[in-house]
Amino acid sequence: MNERHAYIKGTGHFAPEPVLTNDDLSKMVDTNDEWITSRTGIKQRHIAPDDMANSDMSYEAALRAMKDAGWKPEDVQAVFLGTVTPDYSFPNTAALVADRLGLSRVPCYDFEAGCSGFIYGLIQAKAFITSGLLDRVIVIGAEKLSSITDWEDRNTCVLFGDGAGAACIGSEGPGGLLGGFHWGSDGSLGHLLDQPASGSRQPITHEAINNKDDKIHMAGGEIMKSAVRAMRDSALKALEEDGLTYKDVNLLISHQANVRIIESTARVLRLEWKDVYVNIDQYGNTSSASIPIAMDEALHNGTIKPGFKVVLAAFGAGLTWGGIVVRWSDES
Ligand code: ACO
Repeated sequence: MNERHAYIKGTGHFAPEPVLTNDDLSKMVDTNDEWITSRTGIKQRHIAPDDMANSDMSYEAALRAMKDAGWKPEDVQAVFLGTVTPDYSFPNTAALVADRLGLSRVPCYDFEAGCSGFIYGLIQAKAFITSGLLDRVIVIGAEKLSSITDWEDRNTCVLFGDGAGAACIGSEGPGGLLGGFHWGSDGSLGHLLDQPASGSRQPITHEAINNKDDKIHMAGGEIMKSAVRAMRDSALKALEEDGLTYKDVNLLISHQANVRIIESTARVLRLEWKDVYVNIDQYGNTSSASIPIAMDEALHNGTIKPGFKVVLAAFGAGLTWGGIVVRWSDES
């Protein structure tokens, strides 16, 4: 039997229209554009309106990815959605998206791997496709982080944004060949970034809401140190798995959490800044959506060229991390 492969066949993203600038934020909390720009690289973020949920953004991103891939609803065999902000604890958001896309009774599930969600999703799609169990899967990373942000906490509210990105993954090329990967986690550091009142350990009560335990809590400095190490190791191990080194990399697309983290990661990977994709200034940190949004932009604005070897790297709540090499075909 011939060896099976998995390819990115099409991508799409959606960012809600309303934009919140640093100047807007400076009217809400004690901050300013200079601090936010120099410490994070963020200039603005998109914030979904109250009546727009994760599934609404995911639907738009997936629809665009299907159009890009030339897929019809009957082509899709499964939907995997990585998120920390689903529409509900249950039913799962992926099934709601599939229903709106008109997909016929396909398996759908959400999974939670923080900002590493999209890379975890690509690895799952690769596993199902190369094993022969599936041929065509949609992977989505989508977040409405504004719904769990404490808008009175300047340490966190300046960082996050809303959005969705999706990719159609198929068993036949051409496209972006999913290559070597690395993934992992360290639950002993889970407390560094969490939403304490959100599940069975600490249900959401009036007291929890008064304490803002239903919002994002983060030890930013400690996360930052772990982030650079995790993204460097993920990228290097994924490259090694693929038989490549940093010298072969045409483009790094890392999770967009803080431009200083991206700069440090690029430095330790010995990559030139021109070979790093950055759009955090426009979107802020959209968690699991950040890599698929960036990848979709890079593909459609000509940054990713035929034959490019791209490494994706992420870290996030969990803590989790992951990296994967994508080799784009010479033909488009
Ligand atoms: N405006 C003005 N001042 C601020 C702001 C703000 N928005 N936020 C913090 N400050 C102040 C602090 O109070 C502190 O003041 P002090 O010295 O008087 O106490 C000072 O600025 C420095 O604060 P630090 O926390 O040391 O700033 P740092 O340089 O570490 O940057 C930041 C903070 C941006 C949060 C950074 O630590 C970071 O980006 N960490 C990683 C975040 C991240 O990647 N999260 C993970 C992914 S998200 C996910 O998985 C859902």
